Amino acid sequence: MLIVKSAEFITSATKPGEYPKSEYPEIAFAGRSNVGKSSLINVLVNRKKLVRTSCTPGRTQLINFFAVNDRFVLVDLPGYGFAKAPLSVRKQWGPMVETYLSTRSNLRAVVLILDIRRQPSDYDLQMLDWLRSFDIQPIIVVTKCDKLSKNERASQSRLIVQTLCVDKDELTFFSAISREGTDGVWRRIERLIANDPAAVE
Ligand code: GTP
Ligand code: MG
Repeated sequence: MLIVKSAEFITSATKPGEYPKSEYPEIAFAGRSNVGKSSLINVLVNRKKLVRTSCTPGRTQLINFFAVNDRFVLVDLPGYGFAKAPLSVRKQWGPMVETYLSTRSNLRAVVLILDIRRQPSDYDLQMLDWLRSFDIQPIIVVTKCDKLSKNERASQSRLIVQTLCVDKDELTFFSAISREGTDGVWRRIERLIANDPAAVE
């Protein structure tokens, strides 16, 4: 398993001029508001409060960059689908995230985070379509697994697989409470950056 020696906040951005200049490979985290993106990053880097989490949806409104081991960068994207966000924030979201996804040349993969209890929304499907059209590798993580029984998990994962039209093997089950799935998520990330010249120490 990957050993996190250092994890540091680099900067927040809304547009390309504000992105970090570094060429390190980036892995971005996307998903609906309040799904648990920031919690997932905190568990991965084993730091309780590197990324701010909240019970209030729409907490993360900027693109936040975090360097890990001075080798690669995790990027917390603002969540989508939060109807109560001010109109100005909702209007900004699409161009902000689409610009990042379509222009960031060192972006290697996007972790798409879904709530095990919900059927993937149109926003989730649109995100997956964007990733496919920009030729970005999706890593699909199904989170909050601690909230369901084994049986419920099985039926929800069938629903998710059907809605997304993906193979069941493509889903990584996760919980920020029990930390199940942490190794699985790292393994997929590692596989994508292992041969990356920019990430070699
Ligand atoms: P925004 O930045 O607002 O888009 O939210 P986010 O996707 O970053 O979610 P965040 O990590 O802030 O978590 C939202 C809420 O869900 C918090 O109350 C977390 O404690 C809770 N949460 C996140 N992951 C899990 C999980 O795996 N299990 C349970 N039970 N709760 C979780
Ligand atoms: Mg967040």
